Amino acid sequence: MFKINDNYLKLPGSYLFSTIAKKVNAFEAANPDKTVIRLGIGDVTQPLAPVIIDALHGAVDEMGKAETFHGYAPDLGYEFLRTAIAKNDYADRGCEIAADEIFVSDGAKCDSGNIQEIFSVDNKIAVCDPVYPVYVDTNVMAGRTGTYDPKTEMWSDVIYMPCTAETDFAPELPKETPDLIYLCFPNNPTGATITKAQLQEWVDYANKVGAVIIYDAAYEAYISEADVPHTIFECEGARTCAIELKSFSKNAGFTGTRLGYTVIPKDLKCGDVMLHSLWARRHGTKYNGAPYIQQRAGEAVYSPEGKEQLAKQVAYYMNNAKVIKEGLQEAGYTVSGGVNAPYIWLKTPDGMTSWEFFDYLLANANVVGTPGSGFGPSGEGYFRLTAFGTYENTVAALERIKKM
Ligand code: MLT
Repeated sequence: MFKINDNYLKLPGSYLFSTIAKKVNAFEAANPDKTVIRLGIGDVTQPLAPVIIDALHGAVDEMGKAETFHGYAPDLGYEFLRTAIAKNDYADRGCEIAADEIFVSDGAKCDSGNIQEIFSVDNKIAVCDPVYPVYVDTNVMAGRTGTYDPKTEMWSDVIYMPCTAETDFAPELPKETPDLIYLCFPNNPTGATITKAQLQEWVDYANKVGAVIIYDAAYEAYISEADVPHTIFECEGARTCAIELKSFSKNAGFTGTRLGYTVIPKDLKCGDVMLHSLWARRHGTKYNGAPYIQQRAGEAVYSPEGKEQLAKQVAYYMNNAKVIKEGLQEAGYTVSGGVNAPYIWLKTPDGMTSWEFFDYLLANANVVGTPGSGFGPSGEGYFRLTAFGTYENTVAALERIKKM
């Protein structure tokens, strides 16, 4: 008789954004006359930039001709894209990352979920609290997190690093020593950032204790302040302790197109073993590469026109962030984020729980957001709104919220 991976049974409830979608669908079915505005999941709404559409069309045409047709992509990514990434995202920022240290994939969510596979199940993870749920849930699936306490909403074998208003939503170095440290800056969900000096402390700490930092930089394009690092590889010593995850979803609107990459420097080793080799082995065995068409679209992101068009797109969303932040402040809410990130983090009013506020907002303003507690116990009493809606919907949502 077969057995299942019963670690899956330990997962409480369904994936956060699936739970929200179900609730919203039920609300819409019961209230067909209401127009719901979705500022919940961080999904983009602007169409792909013209330069990307041109690249996609060009690549599709190539696929239709025998002489330019492409079959399986190289499993680590096409050279043209890896070279563009190495130059634009690293060399131009003074960071030493070679093209062959970049692994192209179909997105950062998959990579952030899969990367734990190359580590021993005995490793102890440390996560920010609140946290993007994928980091924790995938470690639960792997059997790395111990038992779940529904009262505290915590796993016995996970080190939680509370990110609260008292610390400007930044984590502090943990008292217990972790093996793997998940960091995401600019942060999802709080929209907070840390300075380069703060990130350097994490890199120094990881090198000292022999931990690996899994650094999710998916929201890097939204950084507007000068002392916020764009990549962990700006920090000295990061090549021996850090893996970086990057996405094309948020900077270039690829949530539906799918493209991302992971950087593993060859200096990152466990004894004599390069983590680079393990991830390469995993890619080779389990993955046939991101499609050629998407990789050509990714290359266009780095063209001069691409940079110009995408800067406008980012500015469009950041204007929404400003509308949300200022609108909420006018309405008397306590708000943070929204300056270096497309997420606004607000304190729920009148001592409501995060889910109470979710229901209240949906019923009274017909606006969907994300309950902070869905990201971890320290998110309780907080709520996240995304700036990825359209400008018109964002303005309308804030008008409704102000009237509540
Ligand atoms: C979110 O809303 O937190 C994001 O959409 C998550 C993701 O990018 O997978």
